[in-house]
Formats: sequence, structure tokens, C-alpha cells
Amino acid sequence: MTSDSDLPAPNLEDFDVEIRDMGIDDLAPVYHLGESLFTSDLYPYIYRTWDEWEVIGQFNTDPEYCLVATVGDHLAGFTLGTIISKASWVYGYILWLGVSPQFQRRGIADQLVDRIVERMIDEGARFMMVDTDPANIPAVKFFTRKGFGNVRKHIFLSMNLNKHEYYGKLIAYERSKADRQRNSRPRRRT
Ligand SMILES: CC(C)(COP(=O)(O)OP(=O)(O)OC[C@H]1O[C@@H](n2cnc3c(N)ncnc32)[C@H](O)[C@@H]1OP(=O)(O)O)[C@@H](O)C(=O)NCCC(=O)NCCS
Repeated sequence: MTSDSDLPAPNLEDFDVEIRDMGIDDLAPVYHLGESLFTSDLYPYIYRTWDEWEVIGQFNTDPEYCLVATVGDHLAGFTLGTIISKASWVYGYILWLGVSPQFQRRGIADQLVDRIVERMIDEGARFMMVDTDPANIPAVKFFTRKGFGNVRKHIFLSMNLNKHEYYGKLIAYERSKADRQRNSRPRRRT
């Protein structure tokens, strides 16, 4: 599976999209595609939570909800999801969705979401959830068009621990403890 960032923009008629289960050889390309899409400047929170373990972990725990879209040898997009059962409700949760810029606005996310929702319905899901950064207009528009609604805003707060009056002192203390330990280690004789 190759990266598609160097591909010329394909014509809509020119390509067949295949939606299939993510396989072991897709793990690295999916990770790298996500890395190129979930960037810190655009969506800092999404960026911070995307790492190799998102892909590996979902592949391990929910392989049936790890799908890729391919066009020939190229990875065009992916989705990772999970099922949450609470009381008598089964919720389908789309955790990640990404389409390579070369293939966007051609209905690939549409097909990925249809397929994952079909699988989740099969597993008993009667309610779907997804979340994204409110500034992520393409995603918000995409999910709204897809039928998602009832938007609830959720705020994330963060803190630089180094700058906090108490936690900053703790960090300085830990640092000096580590320095002391390093300096007091017996030196190897030569
Ligand atoms: C959101 C995303 C997955 C959509 O993928 P896609 O394959 O381009 O979507 P589709 O072609 O199936 O659907 C297109 C529809 O979504 C909406 N949409 C998609 N991109 C849009 C954009 N840049 N601006 C406005 N609306 C957009 C529109 O309603 C569009 O319909 P239209 O083309 O008829 O106007 C893709 O833009 C992406 O990968 N974004 C970066 C990763 C991301 O933010 N993922 C979601 C959070 S995990």
C-alpha cells in the first residue's frame, strides 16, 4: 500500500473505490495518513490524541470496525470505530475518519461511514456518535449531511504544568532529584 500524496488528482470516472477490512499491512499507511490529516495547527486536540496506538489498539480490539478505502494500490481513506453497550442501548462510535486530500469530495467518506454503520447495525447499534473539533468545518458539514445532529459542545481545558505555582515546583523538585541520582551513581572504573 503506497501513500497517495504524489498522485495527480484523479477523475471521478477513473477509479474504483474498494472498501475493505483493514489488514496488517495497512497499519503504517493508515497511521501516516492520519498524521498528515490531523495536524496540530488545524486541530490541536485531535492531533494530540492521534498516535500509532490508536491504529494498533483499534485493530487489536475492534478489527471489524477498522475499514480502509483503496483505489488501486493507494490508500484513499480509513475509518476506525467501536461499539459501546450501556444498559439496553448499543451505541456505534466513529472514532476516526480520514480521506487523503487527493481523493476528497468524491464520496469516499460517505462509503466508509455507510459500511461501518451497516456493521454496527448488524451488531445491534441503534444510535451513532461521533465527535470532532467545532472548527473542523469539512467534518461538521460532512456528518451533518450524513444525518448526524443534536450537536453538544464539549470543552477541553489544558494547563502548562511548568507554569503552575504548585505543580511547577513539583516538576522542578523531580528534575533536581533525577539530577542528584544521576550525579551520585558510582562511576565505572576504566
Ligand atoms: C471530513 C472528511 C473525512 C470528508 O471526506 P470526503 O471523502 O471528502 O467526504 P465525501 O466526499 O464523502 O462527502 C463530501 C461532503 O462532505 C462535506 N464536505 C467535505 N469536505 C468539505 C469541505 N472541505 N468543505 C465543506 N464541506 C465539505 C460536504 O457536505 C460534501 O458534499 P459536497 O461535496 O456535495 O459539497 C475529509 O475532509 C477529511 O479526511 N478531513 C480530515 C480528517 C478529519 O477531519 N476527519 C474527521 C474527524 S476524525
